[in-house]
Amino acid sequence: MSKPVVIRRLTVPKIRCQKGKTPVVCLTAYTAPMAKLVDSHADLILVGDSAANVIHGFDNTIGITLDHMIMHGQAVMRGSEKALVVVDMPFGTYEESPQVAYRNAARVMQETGCTAVKLEGGTTMNETISFLTARGIPVMAHIGLTPQAVQTMGGYRTQGRNKDEWARLEADAHAVEEAGAFAVVLEGMAEPLAERITGLLKIPTIGIGASAACDGQILVIDDMLGMSERTPGFVKQYGHLAVDISGAIEAYANDVRTRAFPGPEHTYAMKKEK
Ligand code: KIV
Repeated sequence: MSKPVVIRRLTVPKIRCQKGKTPVVCLTAYTAPMAKLVDSHADLILVGDSAANVIHGFDNTIGITLDHMIMHGQAVMRGSEKALVVVDMPFGTYEESPQVAYRNAARVMQETGCTAVKLEGGTTMNETISFLTARGIPVMAHIGLTPQAVQTMGGYRTQGRNKDEWARLEADAHAVEEAGAFAVVLEGMAEPLAERITGLLKIPTIGIGASAACDGQILVIDDMLGMSERTPGFVKQYGHLAVDISGAIEAYANDVRTRAFPGPEHTYAMKKEK
């Protein structure tokens, strides 16, 4: 008799069930040690293409590749055991056709072992989301401010601050839900609209620069830890790691220059002769 499959991680249906109940705690992670720390507290870890900015030093998310994302996804899967892991589909790997999206998303799932993928776009992506979800690839959607469209938008602009934009954004939200997305990220969206969309949808909304009324929240880990040079106004910093790290490196440099490090406790004596 074959062994029963044991799923220890949070599952897609469990995240869906949190709709309107317990807020879904989400954070990004890109490395195994950070994933381990996040895993103890979060329901969902996103291997975000924000890795382009915060790990690889790009100005935007356009430059990150599928190979980069797979490598970060593998590291996060090795570092975590409880949270549901979602890997971002990078720019250029899913927009062309549902078939191309399927091939690349299947590669992400096979090579990382993650549970789901995330892709940006609303009505324009509904065919692709249906194609993937019908074939066993859970999709988290992402609407509102979609950073991969930075060149089209000419920068990062909060969405829905004029009421005449609401119909388009609500149509995006309905489109991704109807296509089968199990959750949707609402990024950089006027608060009343994010609250309204949360009330309209049956799937959880995950806010970032959106509303406390969303069914969950996500932040880029480097931003909330105080590691990023520039952080958007919607970020609450829960730490100041850049200051701590810089202080530690300065102290180390001083110790090396003054020969205070290594001390006797950091060096190896000879073995005692018998
Ligand atoms: O790439 C990312 O980190 C994201 C979040 C900001 C939602 O898409």
